[in-house]
This record gives sequence, structure tokens and C-alpha cells, in this order.
Amino acid sequence: MQKHFFLETFGCQMNVVDSEQIVDLLRAIDYLPVDRPEAADLILLNTCAIRDKAERKVYGHLGRYKPLKAAKPGLILGVGGCVAQQQGEKLLKDLPYLDLVFGTHNVHRLPELVQAAESRRKRGHAVEFLDRETRLRLFPRRSGGEAVTRFVTVMQGCDNFCSYCVVPLVRGREISRPSGDILDEIRELAAAGVREVTLIGQNVNSYGVGLPGELSFARLLTEVEGIDGIARIRFTTSHPKDLSDELIDCFGSLKKLCNHIHLPVQSGSDRILRLMNRGYSRAQYLDRARRLRQARPDIRLTSDIIVGFPGETEEDFADTLHLVEEVRYADIFSFIYSPRSGTAAATLEDPSTAGERQARFDRLLKVQEEISRDWRERDAGATLEVLVEGESRQGQGQLFGRTTWNRIVNFAGSRELIGQIVPVRVGRVYRNSHLGRLIAD
Ligand code: SAH
Ligand code: SF4
Ligand code: F3S
Repeated sequence: MQKHFFLETFGCQMNVVDSEQIVDLLRAIDYLPVDRPEAADLILLNTCAIRDKAERKVYGHLGRYKPLKAAKPGLILGVGGCVAQQQGEKLLKDLPYLDLVFGTHNVHRLPELVQAAESRRKRGHAVEFLDRETRLRLFPRRSGGEAVTRFVTVMQGCDNFCSYCVVPLVRGREISRPSGDILDEIRELAAAGVREVTLIGQNVNSYGVGLPGELSFARLLTEVEGIDGIARIRFTTSHPKDLSDELIDCFGSLKKLCNHIHLPVQSGSDRILRLMNRGYSRAQYLDRARRLRQARPDIRLTSDIIVGFPGETEEDFADTLHLVEEVRYADIFSFIYSPRSGTAAATLEDPSTAGERQARFDRLLKVQEEISRDWRERDAGATLEVLVEGESRQGQGQLFGRTTWNRIVNFAGSRELIGQIVPVRVGRVYRNSHLGRLIAD
């Protein structure tokens, strides 16, 4: 009888890419994907531990799947990703209905764990960190499939140890992938019809560190620019401290590089930036933002901001608000600080109350909402180049794609346009997307 799996993915692009590998691995052992947990013989959660809320969500979902096991005794339930990495065997101890746990360096061992659970009803876990050589050997290679856009991993792990952040603990040390492999993969993707690649890593700007003689990230982008078929290049995430002049210049010289950069600032206060161990000052950040705009005047910046880092004063927070007003981000992702066990900041005293932190968060959102709206409305009436990614969920005959600064645009058109860059005149602008009309050539 055909076996089925249901996979839920939380967190960042790293997990999205790992989940693509999970799908490939499970297909190879005769499992097909389904979109309802009730229809599955195997349920997997690929988890995120970045904030307490993300982690609690995992336990919430597991609790919901527990009764399914009572109804279907053969059902296998597994947890992977960053919560699995951090909790390890403890998850199996705490949750007796769980069958398997696999960490961020052990995705490749999933088939073995599933098969053990199937045949011997044996519970298992694999959460040890692997050495550099093994990780480089195991770097997954993925195929293009039907996709128009693809993530391509250029590095894994993080060595920055920002004081609030769990990523270095759950993803391990930073390693860069050899550029030859990256470029081969992108050539294959291009041959399969992929038009846009996003190079991903926690800190792509330090690409090549630890690989002697390797290309710089800017040189790598230049090589990708030369690959036929690829029309657009993006990358994420950039760390401001490692944003080199050479990389800034790419925004002036590389035509395929999209005019958007996600450059998380986290805070506008020098005092807090130091406590966060971010390695740059407010002035250095502002200077880099200015130089990016010099290199590409129409570039749009987006950012991540943490509100309520331990000891943040009203004055520190005002610095953040002013920075946001000065940079005028197209959008920001803001988060209330969440203490993560094992990180340096987890031990810091915090005199502020939850109410104060929430009030600051709301003030920040309000300031940014005005600015975001202004950016969105600049698009109204403009004709923009849209890379068509697929049919939109709204309904028949509707397509969706993205502008070069990463806004989603919905418009009417035929399926043949998927994969092409077409001119679309923006009509209505909504919070998360634009509605436009295709302009005939
Ligand atoms: N590598 C990326 C960020 C990865 S995590 C970078 O350095 O920019 C994504 C975002 O989550 C971070 O930018 C930060 O704003 C937020 N974040 C990370 N740890 C957090 C914590 N403990 N509490 C609240 N927000 C956090
Ligand atoms: Fe976390 Fe800092 Fe690394 Fe980003 S650079 S993943 S915020 S430690
Ligand atoms: Fe979350 Fe792990 Fe990414 S903690 S943000 S899924 S690296």
C-alpha cells in the first residue's frame, strides 16, 4: 500500500531548503506527500527555535497530532530542525508518543530513522554535529523541477554569536560551500528553467572565510551574473559588519542583481548594538545604507529590529525610531526580544515590563507603517517588470509574480507567461501585494 507523509515547515530559508531535501529523501523510500495530517502515515515537523513563540508553536502542533496516533497506531511522528537540535533526546523523553528526532546536521539520516520506526517500532534520534569535511560532502544538490525561483545554499551555520541569538547553537559552525559546486548547481537550475536564484546563508557576506583561495561573495555574484537563463539574483541574509565595498559596488555593476537588500540593523542604539555583539555602530550602518543608495539610487532596504533587548532604555529605543525614520526602510520585521537559553543575553537582567516592551513595539510598527505605505504608493500607476512565478490562489486566469524589489503583484494573464518577465501596470496597492494589469508589448 502507498505510504504518505505530511511535512510542516517553520522558520527561515534554511529550513525551507532542508524541507526540500526531506521531500526528496522520503520520496526515495516510497513516501508521497499529502496536505492533510489525517491522511499521513508519517508526520514530520521541521522546527524553528529563534523565539519562544516559534518553539511553543511546535509543542502546540505536536499536541494536536497526538490523538491521531491513538486512531492510527502505525502512524510515525517525528521532529527535525532547530528545536530538535537543541532539545535532542529530551524530546523523546518528554513526549512518549514521538518516534524520531533529527537535528540540523542529520537530515540525511532521516530515511534510516523512519525505516527503524517502521519495521521495529524503534524510537531513534540523530542530533550530533558533524565535522566540516562530512558536511561539505553532504551538501544537498537540488533539482529545478517546475520552479521559476530557487534558493541556493552558499553557506551553513553561523559564527557571529550575536548575544541574543540561538542560531550558532542550533546550526553549528559556519562553513562555505565551494563556489564551483554552487555555480554548477545554478547552471543546472538555469537549464531546467529556473529564472531567479536567491543565494542563502545566515551571513552571506562572510562567504569564503575558511576556504583558502575561494572567491569573495562579490566575485561569486559576478560569476552568477554570467550564467545564461538566470534573469535575477537575490541574496539573504547580509550582515552589516561584513558588507564590503566590493559587494556594494555590485549593486551598481550587476544588472541581474535585484534592487533590494535585506540588511538587518536590530537596533539604532550604539549601546545596545554593543550589548548585542553586532560588530558595527549606528554611524557605520547608516554610512553603508547611504553608499548602497549611491551605487543603486532606486534600491529598497528592509530590516529586522529587536525591541526590548535587556536594559533597553527609552533613549535607546528613541535611537531606533530615529534610525528607522532616517533610513526609510521599504519594510521591517520587528520582534520583541525573547530570551533563548544558552545565549549570552539570556543571563542579562531586564528591568522593563512586558507592557513597556509591547508599547514600544506598537510605536515602532506605527512609525514604519507610514513609511511602508509611502513606498507602496509610489508603485501605484507605475509599470514594473514582473517575473511571473505561477498562478495565484485568488482564482482562475490570475497570475502572480514579483517586482525586482520583491513586491508580489497579482494580475490576469495566461499560464504561458510563467517564467517570463513582463511589464505590469500597478493599479491598487494593498498591504502585502499589488494588483496590476498586464501591458501588451
Ligand atoms: N542571520 C540573520 C538573522 C537570523 S534570525 C541576521 O543576522 O540578520 C532572524 C531575526 O530574528 C533576526 O534578525 C532578529 O531580528 C530576530 N531574532 C533573533 N533572535 C531573537 C531573539 N532572541 N528574540 C527576538 N528576536 C530575535
Ligand atoms: Fe543570529 Fe547574529 Fe548569526 Fe544572524 S548573524 S544568525 S542574528 S548570531
Ligand atoms: Fe529558526 Fe533555525 Fe532558521 S532557529 S530562524 S529555523 S536557523
